[in-house]
Amino acid sequence: MSALFSRFKLKDVELRNRIAVPPMCQYMATDGFSNDWHLTHYSSIARGGAGLVIVEATAVAPEGRISPNCLGLWSDEHAIGLAQIASAIKKAGAVPGIQIAHAGRKASANRPWEGDDHIAEGDARGWQTISPSAIAFGDGLEKVPQEMSIADIKRVTADFAAAAQRARAAGFEWLELHFAHGYLAQSFFSAHANQRTDEYGGNLENRSRFLLETFAAVRAVWPQHLPLTARFGVIEYDGRDEQTLAESIQLTQQLRNNGLDMLSVSIGFSTPDVNIPWAPAFLAPIAEQVRNQADIPVASAWGFSTPQLAEQAIANKQLDLVMIGRPHLANPHWPYFAAKELGVEKSAWVLPASYAHWLERYRT
Ligand SMILES: Cc1cc2nc3c(=O)[nH]c(=O)nc-3n(C[C@H](O)[C@H](O)[C@H](O)COP(=O)(O)O)c2cc1C
Repeated sequence: MSALFSRFKLKDVELRNRIAVPPMCQYMATDGFSNDWHLTHYSSIARGGAGLVIVEATAVAPEGRISPNCLGLWSDEHAIGLAQIASAIKKAGAVPGIQIAHAGRKASANRPWEGDDHIAEGDARGWQTISPSAIAFGDGLEKVPQEMSIADIKRVTADFAAAAQRARAAGFEWLELHFAHGYLAQSFFSAHANQRTDEYGGNLENRSRFLLETFAAVRAVWPQHLPLTARFGVIEYDGRDEQTLAESIQLTQQLRNNGLDMLSVSIGFSTPDVNIPWAPAFLAPIAEQVRNQADIPVASAWGFSTPQLAEQAIANKQLDLVMIGRPHLANPHWPYFAAKELGVEKSAWVLPASYAHWLERYRT
């Protein structure tokens, strides 16, 4: 029996297997609104057989979009298109998830294939960014953000809670808070980005405050019976990794005690000055450490690109869910091919009947 193709239950939600599609920005929205691209993209990926499909980083406020083409959920109107997407994912047999996000000082950027840098000053497509401190990220993201006031902090926390409520109303059953990748929440945690001297900066307790408060605000409105998860960069690979990982595990324990159901273990990306040891499944041992020490189910991504790597990570109890990102862009039916390659019994395969007839029965 394949571990990857075993079912997974979290709260009242049960996934048909341990394969999850992580959030992947499409940079195809207008004014935060989804369109046909998103509907067909997510429908097709969900039909491919993953247990969980998490819709891309969706901004809780207009200034929280990475690019002008990112999705948003700052109004009820934005939820209308997202509700169609959630319904399509569910009809295809996957659990519909969504990641809600604020990009902080990395916002107001050009799309990756159009430079991945900040939109130039004076270009009307751009906007003023905000962050815990007025420090630019660098490496093409040179715009100096405005330091957030306490009122700004409270407003963004409330924006997260409002977006969570809209996500639920739109039919999503799994919520992921984007606390990773150098965006706003990760910036509060990171000493690289946060040099505040008030209660939101300095020691671990203060650097954790925005994340804990935002989590609590969302927990208060997100149903207890549905999974509430976060994606967080537990390590930066900036040479201070032991300390960062220890602090990250402490924060994860606190979040778990406050009702976090799963952590998606990722990388901080809050400074460009890093040396990341890219290799297949390189985060698996880190995720395992978080899983064991914080005593919480974990997911992870980054290079679980073969069915065997994904299978091993689950079988070895390093991960509870494997996030398969880019392979799904290349082949939405990745789970079907993985099942065949792993020799999984046919009852666990997911293939629409109208495809299966031709691929599995009709042979020339
Ligand atoms: C096109 C693209 C968009 C992405 N957008 C997001 C995002 O919205 N939120 C996020 O947390 N990670 C995002 N990521 C990172 C992915 O979720 C994932 O961690 C990454 O692709 C590594 O997994 P993989 O090796 O299976 O592709 C994105 C990655 C890609 C390729």
